[in-house]
Formats: sequence, C-alpha cells, structure tokens
Amino acid sequence: MKPRLLFATGNAGKLRELRGLVGDAVEVVSLEELPPIPEPEESGATFAENAELKARAYAAASGLPALADDSGLCVDALGGRPGVHSARYAEGDDKARYQKLLAELSGVPDDKRTAAFACALCLVRPGGGPAIIEVGRCEGRIGHEPRGSHGFGYDPVFVLPGGKTMAELTSEEKAAISHRGVAFQKMLPHLRAMAGGPPVGG
Ligand code: IMP
Repeated sequence: MKPRLLFATGNAGKLRELRGLVGDAVEVVSLEELPPIPEPEESGATFAENAELKARAYAAASGLPALADDSGLCVDALGGRPGVHSARYAEGDDKARYQKLLAELSGVPDDKRTAAFACALCLVRPGGGPAIIEVGRCEGRIGHEPRGSHGFGYDPVFVLPGGKTMAELTSEEKAAISHRGVAFQKMLPHLRAMAGGPPVGG
C-alpha cells in the first residue's frame, strides 16, 4: 500500500502543486477528506514555528504523517512586516491588503522597496519525534501599482527581478521559482525517504 501523507492546507492550489510534485508514490490526503480537526492557533513568531505547530497538531490528530506550511511576505522597508501576519495585515480581501501595503510604501523609492516571499514547510510523523523543516525564499520588490491576474495574495504587487509581477506568471512558472516551490523541492527527498525508495515525482 502507498504511504499516506496529510497535507494540512485548505488551499486547493497548494494541494495540486504538491500532488504534481510527489506523483504516484505517496497518497496525499487533504484535510477535507478527514473528519474535522480543530485548527491550531498560529501563535509562532516565525514561519518555521507556525509550520511546526500545525504539522504536530495535525499528525497527532490524524495518526498520519503530516506536512504543513506557513508563508508570507517580508518587506525590508517595513522591518520585515507583514511577515507571519501577512494573511491578517488588513481586514477584507487580498486587494485590501495589497492596497494597504502600497499606501504604507508610498514615497518609498524603488531601491528601498525590496521584499521577499518566504515559506516554511514542516513534516512530522504521527508518533511525534523530530520535525523536518525546509524553507524557501523568493526575492523581489514591491511595485507601485498592481499588475496581472494570476495567483493570489500579494502577487499583483510583487515584482520579480525580470520585471514581471508574480501575478503575471502562469501557475507552472510561479511554482518553478516561488518560495513554496523551492521549499517543496527541498522537502522532496524526505517524502521520497518516507515512501521507502523509488523516486517520488520522477
Ligand atoms: P498562508 O501561509 O497560506 O497562511 O499564507 C499567508 C499569507 O501570505 C497569504 O494569505 C498571503 O497574503 C501571503 N502569501 C503567501 N504566499 C503567497 C504567494 O505565493 N503569493 C501571494 N501572497 C502570498
């Protein structure tokens, strides 16, 4: 029987991305397929702490190895904010949040608008034990107005070194360079080991 892995996310896009990466060797189970598990509070000060809090809680509750992620946007001119608070930076929707960011950065020159998306992934086995943590970053800067219609969150205002915003990339292009894509790639060998041998995802 294939090893099963719970990916503790409610985000269908992230689930698709992980399933695409691991291929057939691991059965990736989503939260929706299990009886409801109370959502742990993301009280950590770092992405890694929050990912570990979630992975431990979901592994213990489900009896499955659990993978959890935490991610956000760190803006240098704001001392790293919104960081772990990216999802709660402003009331309302994604647009309200990136508009608030543009307002906070108004008057800040291009060379001071550097920023990075960061992601931590954590894998925990059901019996507990050491957590495996991998991180990914994607460097860029905050633009002056939104561009592009793909992606989510702060993508329309996150300008990559080539000049496009993250929201102007296809999902495949984004997965190849994004903070989450990088962290997933680093996590693959651990998932491969969990599957007990042959390559995961080819
Ligand atoms: P979470 O890790 O899914 O909780 O994401 C936290 C928040 O960070 C999201 O709600 C977004 O606002 C932001 N974020 C994380 N990853 C991305 C991304 O790839 N693009 C745009 N925004 C992101």
